[in-house]
Amino acid sequence: MSKRLSRCYSIADLRCAAKRRLPRAVFDYMDGAAEDEVTLHRNQADFSRYELIPRCFTDVKDVDLHVTVLGSRVDVPVVLAPTAVSRLFHHTGEAAAASAAQKAGMIYSLSSMSTLSIEEVAEASDGPKMFQICVWRDRELLKQFIDRTRAAGYSALCLTVVPTPGQRERELRSGFTVPPEIRLANVIDTLKCPNWLWHFLTRPRLSLANVRGHAGAAQDLFSVIEYAASQFDPSVTWEDAAWMIREWGGPFAIKGILSAADARRAVEIGATAVIISNHGGRQLDHTPSPLSLLPEIAAAVGDKAEVILDGGVRRGTDVIKALSLGARAVMIGRAYLYGLGAGGEAGVDRALQLLTEEIKRDLMLMGCRSVQDLDGSCVRRVPT
Ligand SMILES: Cc1cc2nc3c(=O)[nH]c(=O)nc-3n(C[C@H](O)[C@H](O)[C@H](O)COP(=O)(O)O)c2cc1C
Repeated sequence: MSKRLSRCYSIADLRCAAKRRLPRAVFDYMDGAAEDEVTLHRNQADFSRYELIPRCFTDVKDVDLHVTVLGSRVDVPVVLAPTAVSRLFHHTGEAAAASAAQKAGMIYSLSSMSTLSIEEVAEASDGPKMFQICVWRDRELLKQFIDRTRAAGYSALCLTVVPTPGQRERELRSGFTVPPEIRLANVIDTLKCPNWLWHFLTRPRLSLANVRGHAGAAQDLFSVIEYAASQFDPSVTWEDAAWMIREWGGPFAIKGILSAADARRAVEIGATAVIISNHGGRQLDHTPSPLSLLPEIAAAVGDKAEVILDGGVRRGTDVIKALSLGARAVMIGRAYLYGLGAGGEAGVDRALQLLTEEIKRDLMLMGCRSVQDLDGSCVRRVPT
């Protein structure tokens, strides 16, 4: 590992490193969120509303982080979230993240808006993988996605609930628009990132790999992004979700659940896991943080499905709190993308290493031998 990465001691340090290495518009696309970014900040801040209550004098010589999630036994209760166009942050993109996840013993989720295809990512990692899908207008394409996911050996499918894309103003202000807006400030800013620019210009052009050939003549990234945005189907209902569960027939997660009622409905239609998520605050601003909803949703779901918390996780203590409040595992998005932007696969390795070490150390400090020992007695609300 390079000195630069080994001197990053936290996910926040990796964020600073990514910010230095990426053009501003690209960093803002990764880091930003919808409208006033209220939800983005709340997702992280709500972790501070809970305190940890450690236990004394337990033998924590050997601690065990493994869990079974979405049918796969994994070494660490962390799932890498689906993130669109990852090759924008480093030319190795989704392959680097999937490979790092496999080494770390975590599940990798591939976005349907990825810059490497379902099959290319399967070649990069034979660790457990989940493919994320939205309900596209073109149902034939959707069926093809499901068949390809199965054929490539993915272990789970994830349906994201987003009827229409959110508005991320920070990106728009810094020029990450469709079509791209070439401004003098952006050009100067990009020239300050020669390494990124070199790879951007010399590596295969970015495109949405899973829909190559489906967008007619439009094959550049921005035309395909436009095509993909037009494929969001705002008329999707629970019946469509149930159809997908039947069509797939394996471990299935619904990502974007933000109420106990919807969590119960997801269980009724046969979802294996409920992912409490506001997509990192990138869609509807002013939604509650996943952590604030976790106790209620975990109680509603009981042992009928797994609960995964997605959003705001940057620390091992965040993971300990989520598991104590009833999550089976957490999902991380920006935490690993900062690593990818800071240093490709080695950067993702560093992010996952930091998180794993923190979870392990925090578990020992909590006086717990295993993540299974975490429960409601390990946390309390900060007294007001
Ligand atoms: C750059 C970026 C792209 C994303 N693309 C997708 C996507 O294609 N599909 C999806 O379901 N969620 C997407 N997300 C949301 C993540 O899956 C996840 O919900 C979010 O990052 C969690 O919040 P966190 O970043 O605070 O961990 C994206 C997030 C980021 C940061």
